[in-house]
Amino acid sequence: MGIIVANWKMNGNPDFADNFIEEINAADSENTVVVCPPAPLLGRFRNFRYDVGAQNCFCEEKGAFTGENSPRLLREIGCKYVIVGHSERRSIFHETDDLIFKKHLAVVAENMIPIVCIGENAENRDNREKVISDQLSFFLNNPGSTDKTPCFAYEPVWGIGTGLIPSPEEIETIFAFIRNLLGDKVSLLYGGSVNAKNSSEILSRKNVDGLLIGGASLKADEFKKIIEEKSF
Ligand code: PGA
Repeated sequence: MGIIVANWKMNGNPDFADNFIEEINAADSENTVVVCPPAPLLGRFRNFRYDVGAQNCFCEEKGAFTGENSPRLLREIGCKYVIVGHSERRSIFHETDDLIFKKHLAVVAENMIPIVCIGENAENRDNREKVISDQLSFFLNNPGSTDKTPCFAYEPVWGIGTGLIPSPEEIETIFAFIRNLLGDKVSLLYGGSVNAKNSSEILSRKNVDGLLIGGASLKADEFKKIIEEKSF
């Protein structure tokens, strides 16, 4: 069974959330299912039968950080997971590996599970191992920082929202590389253009423990199909 994470990004509204919750509450999934809506919608998920996560947080518990979300507060309102360092946070909001590592520590300190995103952009596709090692350098230089079994999501930036997916062999090579760096305790998710047609094949690949899903998680019927898949 896998960990299936929905990343709604900056989409949805209260009615959309209510309908989604009703539809997904009727799904029978043996997977770990996590939905990460925009933060203002988290409160609508009180009666959700699966897990809820945030798309981002700050690295401090509280204070003069206007507009930021506290990891403690996210935990207190029911989040179990927080996505950290999504490629859109890295590229649009200039998040650095250093900041992402601090966010990971802040999430772990609240006993939530960080989903740390890594992955190369199109220009670096041939240089992927170097990019991934650099993005993970703070984790690799701080042995013990992954002891609380976080999730890492490999998402090739060129595969996000494009319909492009690495070949099955490419996925196995990349995931073997990441597994070798991070060890057996962490969960490794694949993200980028996952849908109901390709989810089960991707999740069957060695070292892939779950999926991070953007666009297809906004269609409740398609997301339901993915989480109800039993052949993972
Ligand atoms: P996508 O997005 O599934 O729409 O490609 C994935 C992500 O950015 O997490």
